[in-house]
Amino acid sequence: MTSFEYRNGILHAEDVALPEVEALAGTPVYVYSANAVRSQFRRLAGALANLDHLICYSVKANSNQAILKLLADLGSGFDAVSGGEIARILAAGVPGDRIVFSGVGKTRTELEGALAAGVRQFNVESEPELELLNEVAMSMRRAAPVALRVNPDVDARTHSKIATGTAEAKFGIPISRARGLYLSSERLPGIRFTGVDVHIGSQLTSLEPFEDAYRMVAGMVTDLRSCGVEIDRIDLGGGLGVAYDSSCSEPPSIEDWCGLIRKTVGDLGCEIDLEPGRLMVAEAGILLSSVILVKQGHDRRFLVVDAAMNDLIRPAMYDSRHAILPVRRSDEAPMPFDVVGPICETGDRFAQQILLQPAAAGDMLAFMTAGAYGSVMASEYNSRPLVAEVLVDGGNAAVVRARPAIQDMISRDAIPHWL
Ligand code: LLP
Repeated sequence: MTSFEYRNGILHAEDVALPEVEALAGTPVYVYSANAVRSQFRRLAGALANLDHLICYSVKANSNQAILKLLADLGSGFDAVSGGEIARILAAGVPGDRIVFSGVGKTRTELEGALAAGVRQFNVESEPELELLNEVAMSMRRAAPVALRVNPDVDARTHSKIATGTAEAKFGIPISRARGLYLSSERLPGIRFTGVDVHIGSQLTSLEPFEDAYRMVAGMVTDLRSCGVEIDRIDLGGGLGVAYDSSCSEPPSIEDWCGLIRKTVGDLGCEIDLEPGRLMVAEAGILLSSVILVKQGHDRRFLVVDAAMNDLIRPAMYDSRHAILPVRRSDEAPMPFDVVGPICETGDRFAQQILLQPAAAGDMLAFMTAGAYGSVMASEYNSRPLVAEVLVDGGNAAVVRARPAIQDMISRDAIPHWL
């Protein structure tokens, strides 16, 4: 479905014109389409039909309570990577047994909290974590359900900062060592092995790395079973990419991804869990911004907008290019602009020399495909208030995170009594 489209020359989120969102919450503001999230979830669930599965939405992509509630109502499970994320998921009314706990450095406190919440599975990433979890579970007289996250040493062919499945990456247990750990389970009374987990990276635009990793996991499950280790769940992580702008290579479809899953692990009789983050929410969100001024440089024009790298860090951090659309479309011939934020760093730049219709102060622009890893990675750098968020659902629009007042930001600091 198209959730963001022009009606009479004005960009809408579902049935709400974006100038109405600006009137409600100001700019910069993230705007999410509830129906885009719903339809993406249903499309993935449809592609997995007849396969015993649970979609565990990866909360790190967008952890707003409204998004979590929306997905919980559709029956989604959740993938969390911190005690904070688990608390957010529980606060949205989700039972613990729909939460998978991932992450390379879980603390004792986080493990205790997750056990008390009755999480569905711990995706364990190292031997020391396994030992600690065993000890914590025994002291709580529990057996922790565990999948070992294996590192298959597969190159996901994505941006180096988000490739997680190679030997240089800190993630997972080298697949060659995982077998021995599964076989040592009598030594670990606090651990109950339930499955195998793999996640090789994010924003993958080719199926081949997935195929290599999934085949290695399938081989491992078969091998473990022949050694008497009962494995009945496979967690394949997330990672399927989305198309950010026209220059981006088109990622495989959801249906092709799920076809590969059926082909590689579908016959093992295991429950298949997935941890998609970006795929669920990226296209369902935009960052709405206003032009502060148009500045002529030596040889180029800059559109200085009121959103900046503290609101959307992806271009500065991963060289990503989000398509930029004017909120009010005009017939004027496009011209080249650099689109930049007001932060005092040259890297605070969303686009260089892109063609846009001429804009003036007060005009609004939308940064597309910003629903994932947008607001969650925002900060208050340069003492800019944390960006606001609005959810649109049909003709309804609500602020789902308000912009803090500057005074609230300042009052979080304290001046020690001796100063
Ligand atoms: N499972 C695990 C264990 C993960 O580490 C991640 C993402 C996911 C699932 C979800 O991956 P996805 O389906 O969203 O690709 N901030 C970066 C992306 C970081 C991804 C971190 N891990 C960006 O803006 O591109």
